Amino acid sequence: MNSNTVQLDNPATDVSAQRVLVLDFGSQFSQLIARRVRELNVYCEIVRHDIAPENILKHNPSGLILSGGPASVYEDGAPLADRGIFDLDIPILGICYGMQLVCDVLGGKVESDSSGEYGRAQCHHNGSDPLFNDFPKSTQVWMSHGDQVQKVSDDFVSLASTDTSPFAAVRHRTREVYGLQFHPEVTHTPEGKILLRNFLYDICGCEGTWELSGFAEQAIASIREQVGEHRVICGLSGGVDSSVVAALLYKAIGDRLSCILVNNGLLRNSEQQTVVEEFSTHFKTDLHVVDAEAKFLETLAGVTEPQEKRRRIGHAFIECFKAEAEKIHGAHFLAQGTLYPDVIESGAAIDGPAATIKLHHNVGGLPEELGFELIEPLRDLFKDEVRRLGLELGLPENLVWRHPFPGPGLAVRCLGEVTKQRLEVLRAADQIVLEEIHRADLYRKTSQVFAVLLPVQTVGVMGDARTYDDVIAIRCVETDDFMTADWSHLPHEVLATMSTRIINEVKGVNRVCYDISSKPPATIEWE
Ligand code: XMP
Repeated sequence: MNSNTVQLDNPATDVSAQRVLVLDFGSQFSQLIARRVRELNVYCEIVRHDIAPENILKHNPSGLILSGGPASVYEDGAPLADRGIFDLDIPILGICYGMQLVCDVLGGKVESDSSGEYGRAQCHHNGSDPLFNDFPKSTQVWMSHGDQVQKVSDDFVSLASTDTSPFAAVRHRTREVYGLQFHPEVTHTPEGKILLRNFLYDICGCEGTWELSGFAEQAIASIREQVGEHRVICGLSGGVDSSVVAALLYKAIGDRLSCILVNNGLLRNSEQQTVVEEFSTHFKTDLHVVDAEAKFLETLAGVTEPQEKRRRIGHAFIECFKAEAEKIHGAHFLAQGTLYPDVIESGAAIDGPAATIKLHHNVGGLPEELGFELIEPLRDLFKDEVRRLGLELGLPENLVWRHPFPGPGLAVRCLGEVTKQRLEVLRAADQIVLEEIHRADLYRKTSQVFAVLLPVQTVGVMGDARTYDDVIAIRCVETDDFMTADWSHLPHEVLATMSTRIINEVKGVNRVCYDISSKPPATIEWE
């Protein structure tokens, strides 16, 4: 963790608040489990799979959830839990790999099932345990495993089965230790939330008192205490995270907040104007707009390699930010919109999952040598929680539901060289794409939508003349977490209108393509 990071004493870090820990064994669903638990108003954190029992006790959790994972419990190097966690007298729910681990440690037998079981299965439970209270007798569940528990020791009883698995759910006879072979956290297990609620409320004794309104109040109070009489600088991007950070700070310290918006010339059409207008409606405090278009275009001239573009943009941004921050006197703190997934993925969480799962571009932010203490009031929250918090703080829906926009902006959507003229073509096409998504009322149903300018020309015919012009690709995706994404099946009429308008209205474009790649293997951005 960054050495000058301020740990806010908010409800999330208050050990007296009821909480559940998810021990992460590398499942792609670990974050989803944590989100589902928080949706049930129980605070939840993700920790390393091998967290020591004494460290677990420091968190004072009401329950432990052992996540799934890609490994087999018998593989060399498979992630294991400290056996001592089973003697802590804290209820445990093992999911998929977590269940196999529980059964393995407590005497069951896990075998590789050559067919594996992936996808939907019908689960039947025998009604013998409070975990299944209100759960339909027979219902669809989602399986995703190669191994399965074949035998359990006499210490376990089966609570539910599927056609291929006699032990779809098990419970230890004397301890509050449960295992589910299927995934209750995914939407393909439609009633999964009932099981999680039963585990949290009936088995762990949680009361469901964690709420974001309490979070906001305490975050504001601790910012006040932390900042004292100092001034805080906050970088604004127009996105939801930095806006919510600014809103929290504004409530906490009023006009001792100074914001900086760097216009790098890589913003969408009218973006600077929109951000400034929204800002002045909501905040009566300092906003510094740095017009750095020329600087960024100069640093990008002749560069086509994506990573090099990112590197140069990063440097230029720090230079601009630093120069502007030096003009703001009395500032001691810098606020950043780091979110919980950034913290987990960078391996910075205390007892967080082993090293890096994915080094995300948003982690790191501005460097230490700027000399500020950091305030990161959102570092315990997921994106959907930040959005709800934004609404609670009075930010408008259109800002709160804004699609994310990458830091390097249009540069990573302008393939090949970034020039003012090419950016203008891209901006015009991008605006049409957005207008048509709004017109079709699809903005909230999609997660990110934009135009990409390709570095190729193709032949066309306009009127009677041959053209040799640019190609625009349209990218539209749906995703919960931006780590995986599906391309949106946009209605053909919407695509047709976008294409016709772009070709008619944007000079220099004679062809439009639609990107039908999912992530993985593609990424959302083209560079
Ligand atoms: P990819 O392209 O990796 O993007 O599938 C996932 C999400 O991250 C955004 N993104 C970035 N955000 N700086 C950012 O602040 C970046 O360099 C960057 N690259 C991608 C992307 O828009 C998507 O939401």
